[in-house]
This record gives sequence, structure tokens and C-alpha cells, in this order.
Amino acid sequence: MHKFAIGVLGASGYAGRELCELVARHPAARLAFATASDRQGTRARFGGTETTFVAVEDAKLGEAQLVFSALPHGASAQWVDAAHDAGAKVVDLSADLRPGNGGSAESAEGFALAMARAPYGLTEHARDIVRSAEIVANPGCYPTVTLLALLPLVVRGLVAPGATITVNAASGVTGAGFTPKRELMFAEVADDFRPYSMGNSHRHLAEMRAVLASLGCDVDLIFTPHLLPVARGILATITVPLAEPLADVLAPWREHYAGEPFIEVSAEIPSLKDVVHRNVVRITATMAEGVRTPTVIVVAAIDNLVKGAAGQALQNANLLLGLEETLGLPV
Ligand SMILES: NC(=O)c1ccc[n+]([C@@H]2O[C@H](COP(=O)([O-])OP(=O)(O)OC[C@H]3O[C@@H](n4cnc5c(N)ncnc54)[C@H](OP(=O)(O)O)[C@@H]3O)[C@@H](O)[C@H]2O)c1
Repeated sequence: MHKFAIGVLGASGYAGRELCELVARHPAARLAFATASDRQGTRARFGGTETTFVAVEDAKLGEAQLVFSALPHGASAQWVDAAHDAGAKVVDLSADLRPGNGGSAESAEGFALAMARAPYGLTEHARDIVRSAEIVANPGCYPTVTLLALLPLVVRGLVAPGATITVNAASGVTGAGFTPKRELMFAEVADDFRPYSMGNSHRHLAEMRAVLASLGCDVDLIFTPHLLPVARGILATITVPLAEPLADVLAPWREHYAGEPFIEVSAEIPSLKDVVHRNVVRITATMAEGVRTPTVIVVAAIDNLVKGAAGQALQNANLLLGLEETLGLPV
């Protein structure tokens, strides 16, 4: 099989290393270069092949047919453009090009501008537009799990107009990246559980709001992330007031995601063990008892580094390269 040359920017980070592993094992891809900043010049093994990290300035961008950027927010957009100018298709894992970020306002105009620059690659929702794109803005990890859980209700107009959707989500510590932080040290995290970005202040809110608004969903979102003392995985519990009760509570998800290889709808409550190291989202839903407004509680789980980052990015890359969407992805 022909092997596409793939470059990974930010390859020494958590998302970057996951990408390099996926590329190394992909039947139609080979790693052309892998970059690092502080760790440039150090070596790593991906799929049995040794690679030396180079500085992003030294990466031979023109040699890659596709580049993943797993650089931090703010540092990514310029390298996305440089890679594209050098002839590569690009999947950007940072927030720089996502709707609601980097100067694109949470308005319909802002959303249209962001989409024109780089379609938002929530793959199950956007695969047709991704197929013909040059640059894709890969969704954030919390937005991936939240939006995939909400889409079947939103597109069917089942959410009560003007409702407040409450998202409580907990992530493993790799969600915060590799940069050392005092509050992420083992003794600070182990045997503990706490929220952060309280008061609706997390940076992923803008992205989620922008996407929901683009679908005509008139709601407020209250999003509270939590830090889980595990390495990887996100579990979100989402409370959604409905226009009317659901007779068959799982029907919207089962219908919407019928035949989707990476979406598992189940009556069983998902847990992180069901999803880690896999490119899947597992979803369940149940009607809340004892409340006046019909309300559904949706629970969804992903691996933040796979479906929430590198796996979804590879799903998009497969589409950009004209390959089978599932190729090289762990189900
Ligand atoms: N972690 C997740 O769960 C997750 C999920 C979805 C999306 N993302 C997004 O993916 C991107 C990477 O996240 P991460 O968690 O993998 O971060 P990370 O572990 O901190 O890795 C960042 C990478 O970028 C390099 N780097 C840092 N500053 C740079 C600069 N100014 N110029 C060039 N290279 C630089 C680092 O090199 P050194 O190692 O040499 O410092 C490293 O390779 C972020 O935009 C993040 O928001 C992450």
C-alpha cells in the first residue's frame, strides 16, 4: 500500500506522541518528521522505529503530504499556515482555528469565518465537508464528548428552547498537557477529586457554544470540568431539559448514530475502562425521575488522547487523504 508522508508538530507532547504511535502503525502512513521544542534532539520509539525530534523551524514541511499540529494554542496557527503553504493538508489539534477561538466571535458570522478558514472536524457531524477541506480544526476533548452526546437531541429539536444544559465532566491529567504544573503533581492529584474553571470560565465553552448556536440551539450551557486522578479519559454527565419526554430514551442516539463505527450507544452506564486507548465515544441516557420539566441525563465517555485528540485527528486525516475513515484506528 502507498504510504503517505506525515509530519507531526509538537510530537513530544501527550497528543503528539499519541499521533506518532498511530502514524507508525497506520498501513498507509509513515512518519516524515516529528518536532519538539525543549526536547528537540531527543529520541523516541514509535511502532518500533526510532525518531529524533527536530525543532519546528527545522521540519521539512514540504516533504509531508499531511501535517498534524499538536502545538499549544497560540503557537499553532502560524505553523498550520506554513505547512499548508508548503503543500500539505493539515489537521490542527490546537484551539487556534476552532469556532469561538482565536478572534472568531461566537456569532453566526464568526462561525462562518472560522469554518471557511478550517472546517470544524467533529467527524461524525462533518465528514462530507472534511473530505474536501485543506485544513481541519480538530475539536477539543471536552467539546468532542459533549457535542457528540448532545447532537442527536439538538438536530431533532428535542431540547427545550432557552433551556440550561448542565455539563459536569471529569478528565484524566493528560488533558492538561506535559508542561509541569504544581497542582498536577502526583501527591496533589492522587486520591483526590476536584472541579476547576468554576463559574463557567473554561476556554472550551466558547467552542461548544459556537457549535450549538450554529445548529440553531438556543440554550445556556453550564460547564464544570473536574480533575480525575487517572492518566487518561473523560466522563461527562450532561443534564438536558427537553421540550417533551422521550418515550424510548435511547432512540435519538441509536437512530442518529446507526452504523457509526466509533460511537457506541448502550443502556449500560459507560466507564473510562470501556473507552481508554480506543477511538470511541460510549453514550447512554436515562430520563430523570421526580422533576417537573422532562429532563434527560446523558452520560458519555471518551479517551481524551484518542477520540478527544489524536484518534479523531487521524479520522479526519484519513478523509483528507481519500482513505477509509477507520484505517489505522483502534476501535
Ligand atoms: N492533552 C489532551 O488531552 C488534548 C486533547 C485535545 C487537544 N489537545 C491540544 O493538542 C495540543 C497539544 O496538547 P498536549 O496536551 O499534547 O500538549 P503538551 O503535552 O504540552 O505538548 C506540547 C508540544 O508542543 C511543543 N511546544 C511547546 N511550546 C512550543 C512552541 N512555542 N513552539 C513549538 N513547539 C512547542 C512541546 O515540545 P517540548 O515537549 O519539547 O516542550 C510538545 O511537543 C494543544 O493545543 C492542546 O490543546 C490536547
